Amino acid sequence: MMKRTLLTVLVLIGTVACRAQQPAYLDETLPIEQRVDDALRRMTLDEKIAVIHAQSKFSSPGVKRLGLPDFWTDDGPHGVRPDVLWDEWEQAGQTNDSCVAFPALTCLAATWNPQMALLYGQSLGEEALYRGKDMILGPGVNIFRTPLNGRNFEYMGEDPYLASRMVVPYVQGLQQNGVAACVKHYALNNDEEYRHQVNVVVSDRALHEIYLPAFKAAVTEGKAWGIMGAYNLYKDQHNCHNAVMLNQILKGDWGFDGVVVSDWGGCHDTDEAVRNGLDMEFGTWTDGLTMGATNAYDNYYLAAAYKQAIKAGKYTTRELDEKVRRVLRLFFRTTMNRHRGYGFLCSESHYAAARKIAGEGIVLLKNDRQLLPISPTAQPRLLVVGENAVKMMTVGGGSSSLKVQREISPLDGLRAVYSHVDYERGYVGDTGGQYNGVTTGQDLSETRTAQQLIADAVAKAREADYVIVFGGLNKSDHQDCEGHDRTDYGLPYGQDQLIEALAAANKNIIYVNISGNPAALPWLKSVAAVVQGWFIGSEAGEALADVISGAVNPSGKLPFTWPAELNDVPAHRLGAYPGTWRADHKVIDEEYKEGIFVGYRGVEKYKTRPLFAFGHGLSYTTFRLGKAQADKNTISGDEPLHITLSVTNTGQKAGAEVVQLYLHDVKASVERPAKELKAFEKVYLQPGESRDVTFTIDRQSLSFYDETRGQWTAEPGAFEALVGTSSAQISSKVKFTLIK
Ligand code: BGC
Repeated sequence: MMKRTLLTVLVLIGTVACRAQQPAYLDETLPIEQRVDDALRRMTLDEKIAVIHAQSKFSSPGVKRLGLPDFWTDDGPHGVRPDVLWDEWEQAGQTNDSCVAFPALTCLAATWNPQMALLYGQSLGEEALYRGKDMILGPGVNIFRTPLNGRNFEYMGEDPYLASRMVVPYVQGLQQNGVAACVKHYALNNDEEYRHQVNVVVSDRALHEIYLPAFKAAVTEGKAWGIMGAYNLYKDQHNCHNAVMLNQILKGDWGFDGVVVSDWGGCHDTDEAVRNGLDMEFGTWTDGLTMGATNAYDNYYLAAAYKQAIKAGKYTTRELDEKVRRVLRLFFRTTMNRHRGYGFLCSESHYAAARKIAGEGIVLLKNDRQLLPISPTAQPRLLVVGENAVKMMTVGGGSSSLKVQREISPLDGLRAVYSHVDYERGYVGDTGGQYNGVTTGQDLSETRTAQQLIADAVAKAREADYVIVFGGLNKSDHQDCEGHDRTDYGLPYGQDQLIEALAAANKNIIYVNISGNPAALPWLKSVAAVVQGWFIGSEAGEALADVISGAVNPSGKLPFTWPAELNDVPAHRLGAYPGTWRADHKVIDEEYKEGIFVGYRGVEKYKTRPLFAFGHGLSYTTFRLGKAQADKNTISGDEPLHITLSVTNTGQKAGAEVVQLYLHDVKASVERPAKELKAFEKVYLQPGESRDVTFTIDRQSLSFYDETRGQWTAEPGAFEALVGTSSAQISSKVKFTLIK
């Protein structure tokens, strides 16, 4: 008995002693804020300065003395970018960094299924963990304002509500792994050309109604741990240290408690960076945007210059401590989270996720005579035409470029399903295939002339049962690629001539458009079927073959309007792109003259006729929407209104329909769009099955941003809820009134 008591006492003393030795910041039982305060107190000025700027291309140091590990970021957003050399963009040449490429974010948005975004974030987070990355530089939620934007493929379309609903689960899924999201590019980075010089001039209303909601949702609902400032300027100040964007809106109004990370080379000024809310500086080179021989990290705006200014008394450590506090919070959420897993790279579950997301995101735009799907059992003779049937698309496009373990091309995907598949190149686009040292290894060289390529394809088309043309854009400069915009809206490389010639030779043409953007399709009437095939990543070929063969019933819907011509796009119609250079040619003012009338909001206002409407997408089955009914005809106070309708699969195949609810404010003191998406649901139904869908409408859904008061307002009066299967296919209208 005596012995046991002695032992207990000794154990107790031991535990207390251990506790006493363990500093508070290492005590996982304490709240993070307490640990942050404790760690902050222990840090020297040099250590504080060190953690707020880069030490290599993608990392910043931790605090070695305190056992806080280095912090590793990486692109983002479609897979984990290959490791680069310490101080160079060139890939490091590792053998353990070949990843799964997930579908580009436009494809994810086209699923209209938040569950897919969750799966995406979770899977990517696991890949990131395995690769030792603590933050993924993504997702991107800049609004699709012009189809020329070279980076639209990395974003989630034109609608703030859709992008909001999709970004939140992506962020949550990623962060469940203890890997931070860095939602980008905040904000108003809606085109690539002159992205460092563009000063966006936009109304407060358009800012709050169109350009900010997805960021706000990522922060307030998704609880994102990181936000990346955009390159461009707003109110004459770069967004990476913009007082209004960062201090006032992000950190003030939305209560963001994470870190603001500069885009790589987006920081330009120590004083603004200190005062205006930038927390971590990356990619600066030696002096702002000038490429130096090395990155000279001490020359960063938040490095030696900042330290000297503190020492000289220009600043107290108030701002610095605030930044470091945020960085430490990030550490405790990520690198210091001992419970996070080890992750997996290229697991079968990640490939399955990529294929599933793609299968839900591919959009069947047109299907005359129900030409698709093509049953493999009938052993049809297929002719596949086009460079995009074979070209690897995971390499290129800028910072989202990847090094994949595998990428199944559309041609290989089809050959795995069908027994008679012939191939013709049809056109030559870009034969290159390398990005920062990662090469596709493909030999796309071609000696035939353009005319010969067309003639050869046409000759085979005459003999084929079906001709499947894979065209569109690619990841080369001035296409779907970072750094520049497209120079025109048409398809490049003479594809129009090719498709016209093929359509004259065979009536069963299926055009699969591989891109992150729409393009002019002048021959649309002469092809029977059109599929929007996006940039799908590793499982491209398999996912496209799934849809073409009918193994997967398409259920994707366009996350943007597909204009017939460039002039139908409000920004172009109003001459509001790319802007006007100032006399000193240093800044180009881009005034968003179309205000809130972006995408389908502009279609209704300017009465244009898009080739395909926002929200459009067909299926191999048919659906009937019942009449929508509200549970009451007035909405008052904070009590929401519910609208219910039935959806029935009236066809022969299991499938999914995305039911969409748009609102219209019948009379308002400001001009309001004819339709605004405020709810949607993807409904999976067996043949003959019926289900009720109920949507909730609250005051916020009825509100607009009142510029005179600087807040959201819902004006009493008549409203209409328009329910349908696209922004142009409305099957029910429900009227109701908002009472004060
Ligand atoms: C891009 C970012 C990217 C960063 C790091 C920048 O050029 O705009 O989206 O995360 O580079 O690669």
